Amino acid sequence: MPPRTPLPPHRRLPLLVTADGELLDELLRLAAAGGTEVELAADPAAARARWAPAPLVLVGADQAQACLRARLPRRPRTVLVGRSGDLDPGTEIAELIGAEHVAALPAAEPWLVDRFGECSGDQSGGTARVVAVLGGRGGAGASVLAGGLAVTAARARLRTLLVDADPLGGGLDLVLGWEQLEGLRWPGLTDTDGRVDPPSLVRALPSRGDLVVLSWDRGDLQHLPAAAMAATVDAARRGRDVVVLDLPRYLDDAAVVALQAADRALLVVPAELRATAAAARVVAVVAPHCADLAVIVRGPAPGRLKASEVARALGLPLAGTLRPEPGLCRGLERGEAPAADGKGPLAALCQRILDGLTDVPARGAA
Ligand SMILES: Nc1ncnc2c1ncn2[C@@H]1O[C@H](COP(=O)(O)OP(=O)(O)O)[C@@H](O)[C@H]1O
Ligand SMILES: [Mg+2]
Repeated sequence: MPPRTPLPPHRRLPLLVTADGELLDELLRLAAAGGTEVELAADPAAARARWAPAPLVLVGADQAQACLRARLPRRPRTVLVGRSGDLDPGTEIAELIGAEHVAALPAAEPWLVDRFGECSGDQSGGTARVVAVLGGRGGAGASVLAGGLAVTAARARLRTLLVDADPLGGGLDLVLGWEQLEGLRWPGLTDTDGRVDPPSLVRALPSRGDLVVLSWDRGDLQHLPAAAMAATVDAARRGRDVVVLDLPRYLDDAAVVALQAADRALLVVPAELRATAAAARVVAVVAPHCADLAVIVRGPAPGRLKASEVARALGLPLAGTLRPEPGLCRGLERGEAPAADGKGPLAALCQRILDGLTDVPARGAA
């Protein structure tokens, strides 16, 4: 078996102290725009251990009084942040908690993106490669490709997390034949304000060997908070080697966060005219959030449409093609994971995609 790649030392990330979900979502977007991941703490107690070493601390207006009461030590590069209506200009709370700046949103957005940007060079870890997969239309084969990528990575002894980010996808654990496996699913992982406890993440999820899966259960459909996705990808980037995200075609906030975190995004498009037309609509919505978007064309091509023509029509690079694999469908119905035996067109494509990923610099890396 190949040796594992050693993980780099833990990096220092900006710390956000807030329990205000809306504010948190805004700050996560600004952090993503600044090219950095963040640590989250809902209150001063959770923030204490990371308060001093963090390169930047943002205290939400909702937690300012609590931070004052908790007597957290004064530290440089501390910012009080809130929407302009939530920041009371009459109080001296910023000075009392030792904040050098008060950032009122939305006016301070560009300034905050710059501060986050300064922290992105401070990061020295989080080397997991993150790849996102989407379908150009329903039933394109995105989830099967996502499953195949994760299985192939784990077969190569890469510590892998497969994330089902499609609430309407029917459960990625089913694609692997893992539905009976014990462990947490999304509904149990996200609490009411969408926070995830990163250290317990991997331990709590269903796993086999080097593959860990975060999927849905068969219960009532629930909203996936963007903050939960951000925290999950952040934890995974630090603790795994490969993260595969199976995304919905209709982007919710969590999917946007996931796309922005991905080093590479792959759009699976059946080699058909109408599928290509549908995929063009998906590209228009998805491309603005992607650093690197490429297309995988899946056969059969009933009208003899070429993969290169599909890619050209979409204005995207062609990352690969998939021949029809009838045995794969039969295996899926029997609960066999895609690419599990390492043979066939899907397994070969997955191997090539993963080989290509190692050439992409991880987004969080210095
Ligand atoms: N590589 C493949 N070869 C043959 N059939 C496939 C392949 N990928 C997907 N399929 C078929 O298409 C169906 C839908 O695939 P899925 O990955 O769930 O689509 P999506 O996630 O894009 O909606 C699968 O249940 C399977 O029958
Ligand atoms: Mg799917």
